[in-house]
Amino acid sequence: MAIRFAEEGAKVVVSDINEAAAKRVADDIIAKGGTALVDVTDVSQASDVAAMAKNTVDAYGRIDILVNNAGMPQRNGSLFDVDEETFQKIYDVNVKSVFLTTKAIVPIMLEQGGGNIINISSTAALSPRPGLVWYNSSKGAVLTMTKAMAVELAPQQVRVNALCPVIAQTGMTVEFMGGTDTQEIRDKFVSTIPLGRMNTPRDLANAALWLASDEASFITGVALEVDGGRCI
Ligand SMILES: NC(=O)c1ccc[n+]([C@@H]2O[C@H](COP(=O)([O-])OP(=O)(O)OC[C@H]3O[C@@H](n4cnc5c(N)ncnc54)[C@H](O)[C@@H]3O)[C@@H](O)[C@H]2O)c1
Repeated sequence: MAIRFAEEGAKVVVSDINEAAAKRVADDIIAKGGTALVDVTDVSQASDVAAMAKNTVDAYGRIDILVNNAGMPQRNGSLFDVDEETFQKIYDVNVKSVFLTTKAIVPIMLEQGGGNIINISSTAALSPRPGLVWYNSSKGAVLTMTKAMAVELAPQQVRVNALCPVIAQTGMTVEFMGGTDTQEIRDKFVSTIPLGRMNTPRDLANAALWLASDEASFITGVALEVDGGRCI
């Protein structure tokens, strides 16, 4: 997403707990002539998120778009197999992060006269599969936060939308598959997607780009499925 936004001229902050990965993305953007900086943030920590907001304003002077994308998966399995610590971690990264970024960044948007927030939910929130109960529910919370925030912030011209991706080939996919990534399991997932393939990060990035653009200026509070028809 950072790469795609930078391609369109956005100045981006690549914020992640994984510094090496964030640096790889930022270096790639800079190598192609874009503007990016790295900010190492644990999105479940208020002080980190506040520092990220301050560093962004210090560097670029404003914040127009916030993408809440950091996520913590659940290993596919029985709802009884998740311990309390793991449940807490899933909710800290997937849900509390939206609360913290809202507190840190929405005041800046209000001062600017508006802004754009894109929360990454999941088809897991709309049509949950078995084996991912606590992850599914965390993405349900993201969806409700999106709609509630959208209606509360609309008078101040802050748009808030959610993307609901179906399974993609990323860092967390192996967890959704139960810890083993095999062609057989992939085929099973893909068999439930009418367009016949997995998501790609670029599918999501293009949808996020549109939601953040002026072309979507009358769109707020939607849960946009980017799922090849999986939720039909
Ligand atoms: N991969 C899928 O199949 C899929 C499907 C639906 C929704 N999603 C959602 O898409 C989003 C992006 O995930 P992804 O698929 O690219 O997986 P990913 O594992 O590649 O990316 C998740 C990123 O979040 C970062 N992160 C984790 N904890 C963090 C923390 N405390 N602070 C800051 N950063 C942290 C990780 O370092 C990683 O870079 C997530 O919200 C995920 O739940 C993914």
